[in-house]
Amino acid sequence: RIAGPCGLVMFGVTGDLSRKKLMPAIYDLANRGLLPPGFALVGFARRDWEDQDFAEEVHLAVKEHARTPYREEVWRQLSEGFRFVSGEFGDKQAFMELKATIDKLDAERGTNGNHAFYLSVPPKFFPGVVEQLHEVGLDQGPEGSWRRVIIEKPFGHDLASAQDLNAIVDSVFPAKAVFRIDHYLGKETVQNILALRFANEMFEPIWSRDHVDHVQITMAEDIGIGGRAGYYDGIGAARDVIQNHLLQLLALTAMEEPVSFDADAIAAEKTKVLSAIRLPDDLDTYSVRGQYAAGWQGGEKVVGYLEEDGISPDSTTDTYAAVKLEVNTRRWAGVPFYLRTGKRLGRRVTEIAVVFKRSPFLPFTPTQTEELGQNALVIRVQPDEGVTVRFGSKVPGTSMEVRDVNMDFAYGEAFTESSPEAYERLILDVLLGDAPLFPRVAEVELGWEVLDPIEEYWDGHGKPEQYTSGTWGPAKADEMLAKDGRSWRRP
Ligand code: BG6
Repeated sequence: RIAGPCGLVMFGVTGDLSRKKLMPAIYDLANRGLLPPGFALVGFARRDWEDQDFAEEVHLAVKEHARTPYREEVWRQLSEGFRFVSGEFGDKQAFMELKATIDKLDAERGTNGNHAFYLSVPPKFFPGVVEQLHEVGLDQGPEGSWRRVIIEKPFGHDLASAQDLNAIVDSVFPAKAVFRIDHYLGKETVQNILALRFANEMFEPIWSRDHVDHVQITMAEDIGIGGRAGYYDGIGAARDVIQNHLLQLLALTAMEEPVSFDADAIAAEKTKVLSAIRLPDDLDTYSVRGQYAAGWQGGEKVVGYLEEDGISPDSTTDTYAAVKLEVNTRRWAGVPFYLRTGKRLGRRVTEIAVVFKRSPFLPFTPTQTEELGQNALVIRVQPDEGVTVRFGSKVPGTSMEVRDVNMDFAYGEAFTESSPEAYERLILDVLLGDAPLFPRVAEVELGWEVLDPIEEYWDGHGKPEQYTSGTWGPAKADEMLAKDGRSWRRP
C-alpha cells in the first residue's frame, strides 16, 4: 500500500538514529515507490542549517546506510520536498516558522495538511515539543486532514516518569494519533510469530504448560555502547531493551489468539499477558545484572564498560540483565520465561526458544539417548532469520542411538522477496494510519510495572557482576538456570 499525500516532520534530525535508520528508511520507502510523489520531509533541530545543508546531510546518511540501491532520479524527486527549520525545542518563534513551512508545503507539494511529527529526541524534550505544537496549532490540520505524532523510546525510566510523559502527549493528541515505536515489532521475524502460531494447526495444541517446559528469550549483542554513553549510562540493559523489546517478544509468544488482526484486538491480548506477568519472590537468585569488562571481540581488544568514554569509573549501570518471569494464566502457570540481554556478548543473536518437556517415557537404554536433549522450537529473530525445530533422530548405523538434529526454515532460502527494514515498515504504517505494530500506553506502563521492582531491588543490592567481553555474560546467569535444573542455549 502506498501512503497518500503527506509529510513528515522530524525532530532530532541530527541524532544517530535519524542518520543511521530514519533517513535511510525514508529514502528506501521512496525507492520502493511507497511514498506519494509530493512527499515532504521537514527537519527541525538546533543547527543553523539551510534546506540545502539538511539535504546534504540526508544524502550522506542515505549513501551510507540505505538498503536499496541508490538511484539519482528517486533522490532528486524526494529531496525536492526537503525543508529545514532551525530552532530550540521550546521556541515558539521557531514553531511558528515550522507552521508556515508546513502550510507552504501543503500548497506547493500537495501534502493536503497531512503531517506526522516524529519525536526522535530525549524524553526531557517531549513536553516542550508537544506543548509548542499545540501552542501554534500544529496539532490540528485543516478539516479532513490528519496529524499524528511518533515517539521513540525510552518512554520514561520508570512507571511514574512514563505516566507523566504519556499524560503530556495525551493532553494534546488523541490516543489514536499517537504512535509509539518499538522497532522490534517492525521486524519481519517478529511479525511472523503470530503467523507461525495462528496460521498453522501443528504448533498451537502443544503451546502451553501441558507440553512446554520453559521459554528462553535472548537478545545478545556483540557491540558495546559505542558513542551512546550519554543515553545509556544510568539506563542500562534492562530499561533499554527488556522493558520494551523483550517483553513485547514475550507477549507475542504467550498471548491468546486475537479475534482479528486489528490493532485493538492485538493490543487487548498483549495487555492481558503483560498484566499476568509475575516476578519470582527470590530476586537475588532470579534476577542477574552484569557489566562488561575488557576482553577480545572479533579478534580485537575491547575496553570494559567503566573505561568507555563518558562513563564514570564507579558506574553501576547494567550492560547485561537476565530475569525469570512467570505468566499467571491457565495456559502458562508454572512455565518459566527466562529473559536475557547483554552487550559485548559472544555474538549478535536474538531468538525465542520454546523448550518442550522431556518425553514421559523413553523405551531406550540411557546410553542410547545420551545425546538427546529437549525438543525445542526456536524462532530466530536475527540474524540468520528463520525457525528451527530441534528433535531427536536415530543416528545412522547398526545400533539404536538417538541424537538431536535440527530442521530449519531460513527466510533466505524459502523466499525471494526481500523484507523492509523495521523502521521502513513502521514509518509507512504511521503514514497509512495502521496501528497494529505500535504498543499502546497500557503496554508501556505494564512493562515498567514489571521492571520497576527489579530495578529497585538492584539499587539496594551492590553492583553488577563483571563479565569478560566476548563471553556469554556473568556466571550468576548460568547459576540462575542451573538452580532450576536447566541451562541457557548457546545460540
Ligand atoms: C535499541 C537499543 O532499542 O535496540 C540499543 O536502545 C540496541 O541499545 C538496539 O543496540 C538493538 O536493535 P537491533 O535492531 O540491532 O537488534
